[in-house]
Amino acid sequence: MAADHLPIVETAPLTPAPSAPPPRTATLAWRDEADTAAFAQALAAQPALRDAFVALHGDLGAGKTTFVRHLLRALGIAGRIKSPTYAVVEPHETPDGLVVHHFDFYRFGDPREWDDAGFRDIFAAGGLKLAEWPDNAAGRLPVADLDLRIDAEADDGRRVTLAARTALGLKLLAALADNTDMAP
Ligand SMILES: Nc1ncnc2c1ncn2[C@@H]1O[C@H](COP(=O)(O)OP(=O)(O)OP(=O)(O)O)[C@@H](O)[C@H]1O
Ligand SMILES: [Mg+2]
Repeated sequence: MAADHLPIVETAPLTPAPSAPPPRTATLAWRDEADTAAFAQALAAQPALRDAFVALHGDLGAGKTTFVRHLLRALGIAGRIKSPTYAVVEPHETPDGLVVHHFDFYRFGDPREWDDAGFRDIFAAGGLKLAEWPDNAAGRLPVADLDLRIDAEADDGRRVTLAARTALGLKLLAALADNTDMAP
């Protein structure tokens, strides 16, 4: 019976070769904060960002909050931008109605806070979610669409690694690759 099926397999029309998949990781070099700001501008311009969860990794002082501030500015948020260190989360809304939640889990320790403070609901809803120190809420946080890792270098520049973990993240990464000088 197997031989009967062989010709069918051989003559089956070839499916078109899939186009090259978008990169899953990319690296960037930020020489200074102006480069951070330029990247924030490019990211803010992506429509896919509006429902994304971006996890921000890196040591103390790496530049996570600085990047968030530039991103919020690029999204049109004016005025003083508070850091969420003590509140764990700081909500923002852009002039065009995008809700952004900026988390800093550095001091997050009480698992009950996850439900009591409504974090579960925030992640279940739309809007942009940004989280510093996501590892401190591991097991509760969903998989990030984009993991962004910042490492300070000896010359004060920053090496940045982006990793897409979801289809949305891949979309963001592919769009960014078209608009920045990212190295895949
Ligand atoms: N791209 C950059 N180039 C040079 N210096 C930077 C850059 N980004 C941030 N910095 C500087 O690094 C310092 C720390 O930045 P920031 O507070 O954003 O770090 P962080 O990663 O949020 O730290 P923490 O884990 O404590 O929250 C600031 O003084 C800032 O000016
Ligand atoms: Mg910070």
